[in-house]
Amino acid sequence: TGARGDQGDLAGVRVVVSAGGTREPFDPVRFVGNRSSGRQGVAIAADAVRRGATVTLVAANVDTGLTAGLGATVVPVGSARELAHAVHAAATDADVVVMTAAVADYRPAEVRPDKLKKDEQGDTMTLELVRNPDVLADLVRARRTGQIVVGFAAETEPDRDARIALGRAKITRKPADLLVVNHVGWDAGFEREENAIEVLVPGGEVVRETSGSKADVATAVLDLVATALT
Ligand code: CTP
Ligand code: CA
Repeated sequence: TGARGDQGDLAGVRVVVSAGGTREPFDPVRFVGNRSSGRQGVAIAADAVRRGATVTLVAANVDTGLTAGLGATVVPVGSARELAHAVHAAATDADVVVMTAAVADYRPAEVRPDKLKKDEQGDTMTLELVRNPDVLADLVRARRTGQIVVGFAAETEPDRDARIALGRAKITRKPADLLVVNHVGWDAGFEREENAIEVLVPGGEVVRETSGSKADVATAVLDLVATALT
């Protein structure tokens, strides 16, 4: 292995990346979703391919225009449970798993076979939600020796130190090898090219802090992954 971001420094490494945002249906035409575009995950997959890795991208509702010509195996999924199934299947023989996907924490308790009608609801409507499996937590629990698992924590907290404190709590709960704390909000993080991150390790130390394009963030994260693999 050579300098940072070297072409070939992930040669032969099997990388799984999840990207996008899950959609949790409650009838044939409607879902509960989030604003994740999948751009950060696609950037990580692209940089991993450039560095020689064999890459599987589990893409939750990612525009096919973003994944065309990527050089990765793309597995399209819709819901959190579909994503969980695809990620766990791909992870069994992966060296690295990077969870950039915005996985819905909850899904509608009931999925109607037909379109929900207003007449049944009146002026207000209540949707009951139940917890989804936590894919990252399950990956960390099932991690083989030498396998690297990376989480991404989307936080709206604008204050850096408070955001890092939230990240520390998260990596304590789910001890991934790296946790990339990502500032999101109405105007930050989603559907945009620029991204700001702080990367934590178990124990809570900040090992990298950067902002830039999603490609820059991808390179920074994979530099840390490459170091962790050696
Ligand atoms: N994640 C996951 N499965 C879920 C929820 C989250 O695998 N059901 C993963 C995400 O892909 C991400 C990491 O967990 O890599 C952190 O996600 P985030 O939403 O920031 O944290 P949560 O643990 O869900 O906590 P909260 O949303 O309450 O802040
Ligand atoms: Ca969450």
